[in-house]
Amino acid sequence: MKEINDNKKAWSLLSKDHYEHYKKKLTENKVRINENILRELGDIKGKTLIHLQCNTGADTISLGSLGLSKAVGVDLSDTNVYYANKLASDFQMDHISFIESDVLKLSEIHHEKYDIVFTSEGVLGWLPDLKKWAKVVREMMKDDGYFYVYDSHPFFHLFDEEDLSKGKTNLKYDYFNALPDQSNDIGGYASEVKHANNYWWNHSISDIINALIEAGLSICYFNEFDTLFWQNGNMVEVKPYLFQYKDFRNQIPLSYSIKAVVKK
Ligand SMILES: C[S@@+](CC[C@H](N)C(=O)[O-])C[C@H]1O[C@@H](n2cnc3c(N)ncnc32)[C@H](O)[C@@H]1O
Repeated sequence: MKEINDNKKAWSLLSKDHYEHYKKKLTENKVRINENILRELGDIKGKTLIHLQCNTGADTISLGSLGLSKAVGVDLSDTNVYYANKLASDFQMDHISFIESDVLKLSEIHHEKYDIVFTSEGVLGWLPDLKKWAKVVREMMKDDGYFYVYDSHPFFHLFDEEDLSKGKTNLKYDYFNALPDQSNDIGGYASEVKHANNYWWNHSISDIINALIEAGLSICYFNEFDTLFWQNGNMVEVKPYLFQYKDFRNQIPLSYSIKAVVKK
């Protein structure tokens, strides 16, 4: 698919910068997972985990240092996977490995099942087909395992970002939008912004939840937060890796989480 190929090329432009950025950050602080995720995941000691859309593996390594028995990261970009392996070896994380794959095709090449299927922080918008995605999620789960996602809220993505940082709300995008947004900019949160064609789909909350239900999962919870996991302009870091607009505290959901298990 042209859009996926373009996204792969675009993300690959950032791999080296992300590796260098996250190597420095992980050296300063071994666990770079925000407090909302840590609280909701709870004790993961001894579990096996697959991390979908893991980029250059920084969060896989953070999770791996919380006592997982095994962690596997998956990413579309071959250079992300190259640098993720390098990062794991820099931090002597022998129980962590990485697979290059389009997440929508993962079950064609990978047949293991995990206690936890995890994905977070800038993920679902890169996927054109949530029904396929949810099917893969189910295929990666043990029958008594669980799925966890923490991502930016589709409602937040309706607004003009620059206006939000100036304290103004201006609806710029559609909520019910099957077509992708095309952009020529990518990155900017752990690297300079680079220029390459890329595509992003703003899936509605109902599409996300219904895809998981149709794949045979039961939703344990759906939570919403007025904090975001990157600095989107004029935000205050209220907790490590969690940012808030002073003007919109308690007003706009900026991120959400879902936990789901296999339906009995
Ligand atoms: C914003 S990053 C996610 C970063 C993540 N929070 C982490 O652990 O660092 C989005 C990632 O999704 C990956 N990606 C995009 N489309 C994908 C696909 N179809 N299959 C697998 N990975 C994909 C990109 O290569 C990129 O690394």
